[in-house]
Amino acid sequence: MREGGLSGKAACITNPIVGKLYGDRAFSSLSRAGFEPYRIDIPDGEEYKSLEWVSHIYDKLIEYRMERQSPIVALGGGVVGDIAGFAAATYLRGIPYVQVPTTLLAQVDSSVGGKTGVNHPMGKNLIGSFYQPKMVLIDVDALKTLEPRDIKAGLAEVIKYGIIRDSGFFAFLESNYKDALALGDSLVYAIKVSCSIKAKVIEEDETETGVRAILNFGHTLGHAIEAATHYKELRHGEAVAIGMAAAARLSLKLGLCNKDVCQRIEGLLAKVGLPTKLSAVSYQLSAKDLFQAMEIDKKMTGGKIKFVMVEDIGRTTFRQLDRGDFPLDLLGILN
Ligand SMILES: NC(=O)c1ccc[n+]([C@@H]2O[C@H](COP(=O)([O-])OP(=O)(O)OC[C@H]3O[C@@H](n4cnc5c(N)ncnc54)[C@H](O)[C@@H]3O)[C@@H](O)[C@H]2O)c1
Repeated sequence: MREGGLSGKAACITNPIVGKLYGDRAFSSLSRAGFEPYRIDIPDGEEYKSLEWVSHIYDKLIEYRMERQSPIVALGGGVVGDIAGFAAATYLRGIPYVQVPTTLLAQVDSSVGGKTGVNHPMGKNLIGSFYQPKMVLIDVDALKTLEPRDIKAGLAEVIKYGIIRDSGFFAFLESNYKDALALGDSLVYAIKVSCSIKAKVIEEDETETGVRAILNFGHTLGHAIEAATHYKELRHGEAVAIGMAAAARLSLKLGLCNKDVCQRIEGLLAKVGLPTKLSAVSYQLSAKDLFQAMEIDKKMTGGKIKFVMVEDIGRTTFRQLDRGDFPLDLLGILN
């Protein structure tokens, strides 16, 4: 971090779970590097990714007299990374921050690309900013303390990168998913490839005016499922897996891809142990519930929802769907 021009105090934002596992190690490594470390905890859980807890972080940053060149270190999963990044983007009009992602999802997705933010009672990630971290430090050993369910959920995003940009990588995952699930070398390789695909897409379009939206493959419906189930039943990656399976089926239905593409996508998700159907949740969701949730999502413009569709493994396209176009039999496809 010193090489990145950072100095002085460092505020390590974490939660009690990650703090207990890795807080001491992070603290001593910051001290060894000559920083004066402070710790700020937020409670564990998506519901604390809120403006209220950003305010708590500001109070602490002010109390610790954090200055312009003092970095924030986000130690944790996507929740910690998003809120810590948002605090960094706004405190003193922006101070540097470093992402130290400790979940697979955060390592392959949320820590890269500079999207920071918090939830609003009306919807997820509605408040935020684009603000790039000074660096992202990934230690794959941190994944050893994760639940297997969280590894699978993170793999949903990994699979997404193969679908949207890299058919060779998708085929690699088809052959090596067992080793990846067992945290073998295939996972280390998959993290590297995922980060480089995401970084490349973001270099092309940092603020999502165009191509960056392909990263939302499976997310439009995925976010709607998460919202309609009150963020309680599914991990983000699980909802995205259902969303990707639905997007593939919809693409097939609209004649954009062939059956083989659709089957390979659903097949890999299922082999990894991810859900591909809405029947995985206990809520009885209607197409109306899901559409309403999608309307609140910020991916809606001019009353239309921008859907990322798949044409082939490694190639996507966009379709704008309005309420009328929205296939009401989608649930029939899903269940
Ligand atoms: N900024 C972006 O581009 C972006 C992209 C995707 C998702 N996100 C956001 O990321 C969040 C989801 O992130 P997540 O899936 O990492 O969830 P999370 O941050 O809630 O972490 C999941 C659980 O794992 C625990 N944990 C974290 N690291 C651990 C470790 N090494 N060992 C044991 N337990 C550990 C956490 O305390 C938590 O209980 C959502 O809020 C989502 O909106 C942001």
